[in-house]
Amino acid sequence: MLKPDQSILQELEEQRPSFAPGLLSRAEKDRLIERGIAGLFRWYQARSQAKRNWNPDRSFDWRNFRTDLSPELNTVLEGFYAVEQYAPDYTVRTIQMNRRSYGRSQFQIRWGSEEEKHSDLWLNTLLFSRYRSPEWIEDYQNTLREQVWQTPWDDPLHGTLYVVFQERATQLNYLNTAIIARGKSDKPEHKDDIDPILAQAAETIAIDEAAHYYFFLEIARLFLYYYPAETVEALFDVIKHFAMPALDIIPNAKQLGEQLYRSGIYGPREFSSDVVQVALRNLGFESRAALTRGIKKTRLVPDEDGNLFDSSIFELFDYNSVELAVKKLFGKVQKYEQEVGLDAIKPTEFKSSGMGPAE
Ligand SMILES: [Fe+2]
Ligand SMILES: [Fe+2]
Repeated sequence: MLKPDQSILQELEEQRPSFAPGLLSRAEKDRLIERGIAGLFRWYQARSQAKRNWNPDRSFDWRNFRTDLSPELNTVLEGFYAVEQYAPDYTVRTIQMNRRSYGRSQFQIRWGSEEEKHSDLWLNTLLFSRYRSPEWIEDYQNTLREQVWQTPWDDPLHGTLYVVFQERATQLNYLNTAIIARGKSDKPEHKDDIDPILAQAAETIAIDEAAHYYFFLEIARLFLYYYPAETVEALFDVIKHFAMPALDIIPNAKQLGEQLYRSGIYGPREFSSDVVQVALRNLGFESRAALTRGIKKTRLVPDEDGNLFDSSIFELFDYNSVELAVKKLFGKVQKYEQEVGLDAIKPTEFKSSGMGPAE
């Protein structure tokens, strides 16, 4: 019997890829996504404690908060308070939705603790502005609490993509409010609304919202990298049906929305250019129009493992840039693990999806 040359066998073995290209199982993809999320969460937790550990009462000079802000600006502050008032609902629902994921559900607890401070901070602006009586504010709070917020999406993929846009939109709302409080607004009704304490408050929350945005953006990239077709479809759905949270349950939501629009803080223009456009670029898409055009062309067929696939999906967005971003995320996690010693016990490792546009 002919015996194969050992050196050839060894060479073949060395050349054999450690996984079949494009054929990572769903279980393996889910494991990689979970490792990425869990690692990012540990990094996030340390950073949140070190850099953003502000207190809604003690970090601001409330006694010197202005008591003569315009009624328009006070309406805006009431709106922010109302939206942030549902932090317990947001937290409960998102923990339930993601409870199978360690990294994600732990993150939602910390996220909830940060969002909770936002409602306390906006509450302080309402109380110290003296625009309404404490009794009025209490009544308003009770009215808001009669309603329960429900998620617009109840699966982790759509839910994650939704919060990417929602956190970015919220950040924008607060940054534009800080512009008013810094005296940089061109709206005549806000010309006397300069207040450095309000500016500091709005900017402090905006930094938290930016941290939330980037956390969810990283998760969205992990989904986009390992499940490109499903994620593109979900992305399309989420943008199409997007609305800011709780607007359907806040009693004076219409009035609040109109004021945000008139004050130049947030409206359809801001949503399109500063939310959708920015988030899509961060995800490797050229524009919303490209996403819409592309999604119509793509016909997705599930393979035997349940993965949706059509290689034309890679014409829609820059898959290579997503891969680069995901590799960077794993690099960040690895660096953190080295800093705290976890690298010696359970190091997180990147694994290529094996997919991508044909060269
Ligand atoms: Fe918030
Ligand atoms: Fe947030």
